Amino acid sequence: PHPVLIAPSLLAADFTRLAEEVAAIEAAGADWLHLDIMDGHFVPNISFGPAIVKALRPLTRMPFDVHLMIAPVDPYLAAFAEAGADLISFHPEAGPHLHRSLQTIKGLGKKAGVVLNPGTPVESIAPVLDLVDLILVMTVNPGFGGQSFLESQLPKIAALRRLIDASGRDIRLQIDGGVTAKTAPLCLGAGADVLVAGTAVFGAPDRAAAIRAIRGDQGA
Ligand code: DX5
Ligand code: ZN
Repeated sequence: PHPVLIAPSLLAADFTRLAEEVAAIEAAGADWLHLDIMDGHFVPNISFGPAIVKALRPLTRMPFDVHLMIAPVDPYLAAFAEAGADLISFHPEAGPHLHRSLQTIKGLGKKAGVVLNPGTPVESIAPVLDLVDLILVMTVNPGFGGQSFLESQLPKIAALRRLIDASGRDIRLQIDGGVTAKTAPLCLGAGADVLVAGTAVFGAPDRAAAIRAIRGDQGA
Protein backbone atom coordinates (compact mmCIF):
# COMPACT_ATOMS: atom_id res chain seq x y z
CA PRO A 1 0.00 0.00 0.00
CA HIS A 2 0.99 3.61 -0.61
CA PRO A 3 1.86 6.00 2.22
CA VAL A 4 -1.06 8.31 3.03
CA LEU A 5 -0.83 11.68 1.29
CA ILE A 6 -2.56 14.87 2.45
CA ALA A 7 -3.68 17.40 -0.17
CA PRO A 8 -5.00 20.62 1.41
CA SER A 9 -7.60 22.38 -0.73
CA LEU A 10 -6.68 25.99 -1.49
CA LEU A 11 -10.39 26.84 -1.62
CA ALA A 12 -10.35 27.28 2.16
CA ALA A 13 -7.24 29.52 2.19
CA ASP A 14 -7.19 33.29 2.73
CA PHE A 15 -7.35 34.51 -0.90
CA THR A 16 -5.73 37.85 -0.02
CA ARG A 17 -2.56 35.97 1.05
CA LEU A 18 -2.28 32.96 -1.28
CA ALA A 19 1.52 32.90 -1.41
CA GLU A 20 1.82 32.82 2.40
CA GLU A 21 -0.93 30.22 2.70
CA VAL A 22 0.78 27.88 0.23
CA ALA A 23 4.13 28.30 2.00
CA ALA A 24 2.49 27.67 5.36
CA ILE A 25 0.87 24.37 4.43
CA GLU A 26 4.02 23.16 2.68
CA ALA A 27 6.00 23.87 5.85
CA ALA A 28 3.24 22.16 7.84
CA GLY A 29 3.82 18.88 5.98
CA ALA A 30 1.27 18.91 3.14
CA ASP A 31 2.11 16.50 0.31
CA TRP A 32 0.08 17.89 -2.62
CA LEU A 33 -1.76 21.17 -3.24
CA HIS A 34 -5.39 20.54 -4.27
CA LEU A 35 -6.73 23.25 -6.59
CA ASP A 36 -10.51 23.37 -7.04
CA ILE A 37 -11.56 24.86 -10.38
CA MET A 38 -15.27 25.79 -10.53
CA ASP A 39 -17.11 27.39 -13.43
CA GLY A 40 -20.53 28.36 -12.04
CA HIS A 41 -22.09 25.98 -14.58
CA PHE A 42 -21.01 22.43 -13.74
CA VAL A 43 -21.18 23.41 -10.06
CA PRO A 44 -23.01 26.32 -8.44
CA ASN A 45 -19.88 28.27 -7.49
CA ILE A 46 -16.97 30.02 -9.24
CA SER A 47 -13.41 29.78 -7.91
CA PHE A 48 -10.34 30.59 -10.02
CA GLY A 49 -8.68 29.59 -13.28
CA PRO A 50 -5.31 28.75 -14.83
CA ALA A 51 -3.81 32.20 -14.18
CA ILE A 52 -3.86 31.57 -10.42
CA VAL A 53 -2.43 28.07 -10.87
CA LYS A 54 0.38 29.51 -12.99
CA ALA A 55 1.11 32.31 -10.51
CA LEU A 56 1.45 29.84 -7.63
CA ARG A 57 3.54 27.26 -9.50
CA PRO A 58 7.00 28.79 -8.81
CA LEU A 59 6.25 29.24 -5.10
CA THR A 60 6.26 25.59 -4.01
CA ARG A 61 7.63 22.15 -4.76
CA MET A 62 4.33 20.43 -3.90
CA PRO A 63 2.71 18.60 -6.83
CA PHE A 64 -0.36 20.46 -8.16
CA ASP A 65 -3.51 18.34 -7.99
CA VAL A 66 -6.03 20.18 -10.18
CA HIS A 67 -9.68 19.18 -9.65
CA LEU A 68 -11.77 20.44 -12.56
CA MET A 69 -15.43 21.12 -11.80
CA ILE A 70 -16.05 22.64 -15.21
CA ALA A 71 -17.92 21.63 -18.36
CA PRO A 72 -16.70 21.12 -20.96
CA VAL A 73 -13.15 20.21 -19.92
CA ASP A 74 -11.48 19.57 -23.29
CA PRO A 75 -10.92 23.25 -24.29
CA TYR A 76 -9.09 23.95 -20.98
CA LEU A 77 -6.88 20.88 -20.46
CA ALA A 78 -3.85 22.35 -22.24
CA ALA A 79 -4.14 25.63 -20.30
CA PHE A 80 -4.05 23.83 -16.95
CA ALA A 81 -1.20 21.58 -18.09
CA GLU A 82 0.80 24.64 -19.17
CA ALA A 83 -0.07 26.45 -15.93
CA GLY A 84 1.73 23.72 -13.99
CA ALA A 85 -0.76 21.00 -13.11
CA ASP A 86 0.89 17.65 -12.31
CA LEU A 87 -2.39 15.78 -12.14
CA ILE A 88 -5.69 16.82 -13.74
CA SER A 89 -8.93 15.21 -12.63
CA PHE A 90 -12.44 15.76 -13.95
CA HIS A 91 -15.98 14.40 -13.70
CA PRO A 92 -17.42 11.94 -16.28
CA GLU A 93 -20.61 14.07 -16.36
CA ALA A 94 -18.64 17.06 -17.67
CA GLY A 95 -18.64 15.82 -21.24
CA PRO A 96 -19.52 12.99 -23.60
CA HIS A 97 -15.98 11.69 -24.10
CA LEU A 98 -14.47 10.45 -20.84
CA HIS A 99 -11.94 8.29 -22.66
CA ARG A 100 -10.86 11.01 -25.08
CA SER A 101 -10.36 13.59 -22.32
CA LEU A 102 -8.19 11.08 -20.43
CA GLN A 103 -6.16 10.48 -23.60
CA THR A 104 -5.71 14.23 -23.97
CA ILE A 105 -4.41 14.63 -20.41
CA LYS A 106 -1.98 11.72 -20.87
CA GLY A 107 -0.92 13.21 -24.19
CA LEU A 108 -0.06 16.44 -22.38
CA GLY A 109 2.30 14.40 -20.18
CA LYS A 110 0.19 14.76 -17.02
CA LYS A 111 -1.35 12.29 -14.60
CA ALA A 112 -5.08 11.82 -15.05
CA GLY A 113 -7.87 11.41 -12.52
CA VAL A 114 -11.59 10.66 -12.68
CA VAL A 115 -13.93 12.07 -10.03
CA LEU A 116 -17.06 10.25 -8.87
CA ASN A 117 -19.86 12.41 -7.43
CA PRO A 118 -21.90 10.95 -4.57
CA GLY A 119 -24.54 9.83 -7.08
CA THR A 120 -22.08 8.39 -9.63
CA PRO A 121 -21.49 4.62 -9.52
CA VAL A 122 -18.22 2.69 -9.45
CA GLU A 123 -19.06 1.14 -12.82
CA SER A 124 -18.54 4.46 -14.66
CA ILE A 125 -14.77 4.17 -14.15
CA ALA A 126 -14.21 0.52 -15.08
CA PRO A 127 -13.92 0.89 -18.90
CA VAL A 128 -11.18 3.54 -18.63
CA LEU A 129 -9.10 2.12 -15.79
CA ASP A 130 -6.10 1.64 -18.08
CA LEU A 131 -5.76 5.43 -18.53
CA VAL A 132 -6.33 6.48 -14.92
CA ASP A 133 -3.67 7.40 -12.33
CA LEU A 134 -6.13 8.48 -9.64
CA ILE A 135 -9.77 7.97 -8.72
CA LEU A 136 -11.36 10.69 -6.59
CA VAL A 137 -14.46 9.88 -4.55
CA MET A 138 -16.48 12.96 -3.59
CA THR A 139 -17.86 12.66 -0.06
CA VAL A 140 -19.88 15.87 -0.51
CA ASN A 141 -21.66 17.26 -3.54
CA PRO A 142 -19.05 19.42 -5.28
CA GLY A 143 -19.15 23.21 -5.22
CA PHE A 144 -18.39 24.33 -1.69
CA GLY A 145 -16.00 23.70 1.16
CA GLY A 146 -17.16 23.13 4.70
CA GLN A 147 -19.91 20.56 4.01
CA SER A 148 -20.56 17.40 6.04
CA PHE A 149 -18.92 14.08 5.11
CA LEU A 150 -21.31 11.59 3.46
CA GLU A 151 -20.74 8.24 5.16
CA SER A 152 -22.92 6.65 2.46
CA GLN A 153 -19.86 6.77 0.18
CA LEU A 154 -17.73 4.41 2.30
CA PRO A 155 -18.87 1.21 0.53
CA LYS A 156 -18.01 2.85 -2.80
CA ILE A 157 -14.50 3.62 -1.55
CA ALA A 158 -14.08 -0.02 -0.47
CA ALA A 159 -15.38 -1.27 -3.84
CA LEU A 160 -12.91 0.97 -5.69
CA ARG A 161 -10.07 -0.31 -3.51
CA ARG A 162 -10.96 -3.87 -4.58
CA LEU A 163 -11.21 -2.79 -8.24
CA ILE A 164 -7.81 -1.07 -8.11
CA ASP A 165 -6.12 -4.00 -6.37
CA ALA A 166 -7.62 -6.47 -8.85
CA SER A 167 -6.37 -4.33 -11.76
CA GLY A 168 -2.76 -4.54 -10.58
CA ARG A 169 -2.32 -0.93 -11.75
CA ASP A 170 -0.71 1.88 -9.73
CA ILE A 171 -3.81 4.00 -9.09
CA ARG A 172 -4.27 6.39 -6.18
CA LEU A 173 -7.63 6.48 -4.36
CA GLN A 174 -8.43 10.01 -3.19
CA ILE A 175 -11.26 11.35 -1.03
CA ASP A 176 -12.57 14.93 -1.13
CA GLY A 177 -15.22 16.61 1.01
CA GLY A 178 -15.74 16.88 4.74
CA VAL A 179 -12.46 15.15 5.56
CA THR A 180 -11.43 15.85 9.17
CA ALA A 181 -9.43 14.04 11.85
CA LYS A 182 -12.71 12.28 12.71
CA THR A 183 -13.72 11.15 9.19
CA ALA A 184 -10.20 10.45 7.84
CA PRO A 185 -9.90 7.08 9.63
CA LEU A 186 -13.14 5.96 7.95
CA CYS A 187 -11.66 6.83 4.53
CA LEU A 188 -8.34 5.14 5.27
CA GLY A 189 -10.11 2.11 6.69
CA ALA A 190 -12.06 1.76 3.45
CA GLY A 191 -8.84 1.83 1.42
CA ALA A 192 -8.20 5.48 0.48
CA ASP A 193 -4.60 6.69 0.26
CA VAL A 194 -4.90 10.43 -0.60
CA LEU A 195 -7.04 12.77 1.52
CA VAL A 196 -8.10 16.26 0.45
CA ALA A 197 -8.97 18.63 3.29
CA GLY A 198 -9.88 22.29 3.02
CA THR A 199 -11.54 23.64 6.13
CA ALA A 200 -9.92 21.07 8.44
CA VAL A 201 -6.41 22.28 7.45
CA PHE A 202 -6.74 25.99 6.59
CA GLY A 203 -9.26 26.60 9.36
CA ALA A 204 -7.01 25.09 12.02
CA PRO A 205 -4.84 27.34 14.20
CA ASP A 206 -2.01 24.77 13.97
CA ARG A 207 -1.92 23.45 10.40
CA ALA A 208 0.92 21.00 11.09
CA ALA A 209 -1.06 19.40 13.91
CA ALA A 210 -4.16 19.29 11.71
CA ILE A 211 -2.27 17.53 8.90
CA ARG A 212 -0.75 15.02 11.34
CA ALA A 213 -4.16 14.32 12.85
CA ILE A 214 -5.79 13.73 9.44
CA ARG A 215 -2.90 11.51 8.34
CA GLY A 216 -3.36 9.50 11.53
CA ASP A 217 0.21 10.01 12.77
CA GLN A 218 0.92 8.75 16.27
CA GLY A 219 0.94 11.48 18.88
CA ALA A 220 -1.07 13.91 16.75
C1 DX5 B 1 -15.66 20.75 -3.06
C2 DX5 B 1 -14.17 20.72 -3.33
C3 DX5 B 1 -13.36 20.34 -2.16
C4 DX5 B 1 -13.49 21.30 -1.00
C5 DX5 B 1 -13.25 20.51 0.25
O1 DX5 B 1 -16.33 20.92 -4.26
O2 DX5 B 1 -13.89 19.78 -4.36
O3 DX5 B 1 -12.01 20.17 -2.52
O4 DX5 B 1 -12.58 22.37 -1.06
O5 DX5 B 1 -13.48 21.33 1.34
P1 DX5 B 1 -13.71 20.72 2.80
O6 DX5 B 1 -12.48 19.92 3.14
O7 DX5 B 1 -13.90 21.92 3.65
O8 DX5 B 1 -14.93 19.84 2.71
ZN1 ZN C 1 -11.74 19.25 -4.76
